[in-house]
Amino acid sequence: MVENKFRNMEETVKVPVHVSIIMDGNGRWAQQRGHERVYGHSHGVESVRACVEAAVETGVRYLSLFAFSEENWGRPESEVDTLMSLMFKAIADEIEALKKQGVRFRVLGNMERLSPKLRESIHKAEERTAPEPGKEPVLDLIVFLSYSGKWDILQAARKLAVKYASDPSGLENVDAAEFGDLLVTAGVPDPDLVIRTSGEQRISNYLLWQAAYSELLFVDTLWPDFGKDEFRAAVSEYSKRNRRYGKVK
Ligand code: IPE
Ligand code: IPE
Ligand code: MG
Repeated sequence: MVENKFRNMEETVKVPVHVSIIMDGNGRWAQQRGHERVYGHSHGVESVRACVEAAVETGVRYLSLFAFSEENWGRPESEVDTLMSLMFKAIADEIEALKKQGVRFRVLGNMERLSPKLRESIHKAEERTAPEPGKEPVLDLIVFLSYSGKWDILQAARKLAVKYASDPSGLENVDAAEFGDLLVTAGVPDPDLVIRTSGEQRISNYLLWQAAYSELLFVDTLWPDFGKDEFRAAVSEYSKRNRRYGKVK
C-alpha cells in the first residue's frame, strides 16, 4: 500500500496497489431501458475505459476485471457469442490507446476454451503492450476471461503434482508462496480491494485464493453506470478501511 495523492483532489488517501472489479449488472441495465441484455454488455466497455483512466489518475498500479466466468459458458449461445465478439472488438479498438497510456494488457483464464481467432488477438495485444526491457508499465490491466477461482486452484494443483511426481517428499515443504506462483496470477500482487457492482453480495467463484485478505466493496451501481466518480469513491472508501490480517492493530 502506498501513500498517494489524487492528482485532482486535495485529499491524501491510501491508494490500493491492486483493484479488482467483478463487473456485474449489464443485463439488468439493458432490461431497465427496454433493450436486450447484450446492449448492456456493449455499454460496459465504456465503464472499462473510464476505470482504466481513473486507475492511472489515482495511482493504482494493477486493475483487474472479471469479464467472463467459467460458469458464463452456460449462458445462451447468442449471448456468449456476442460477449466474445465484443471482447475481440474492444481489443482491436482500444489497444493502441492503452499502449499510448503505458498500460500493459493481459488476459488470464482458461484460454483453451476461447476461439483460435480471439486467442490470437489476445496474444498480439499482449505482445503489443508488453513493456520494453527495464521499463515498468504505468498500469497492468488484467482481464479475467473464461476464469474461475476453483479452476485456477485445480490447474495449480495439477502443476504441483507434476513438479513433485518424482520426489513426493518435497511436497511437505510447499508453502503458500510456492503454490501462489503456480496460479495464473503468479507475479501479480493479491488484490487490495475487490469491488462488485450491481448489488449482488457474492464472490461467484472469482479470485478464491488471491482475495483471502482483500477488502470487499459491494455497490448497487450497475456496471454500465460505473464511471470515474464511482471508481474514485471506491478508492476513497478503501482508504478508510483498517486492514488487520488477523492481528491486533
Ligand atoms: C455482467 O453482467 C457481465 C457478465 C457476467 C458477462 P450480467 O450479464 O451478469 O448482468 P446481470 O447480472 O444479468 O444484470
Ligand atoms: C459474475 O457475474 C461473473 C462476471 C462478472 C464475469 P454473474 O452474473 O455471472 O454471477 P452470478 O451468476 O450472479 O453469481
Ligand atoms: Mg450478473
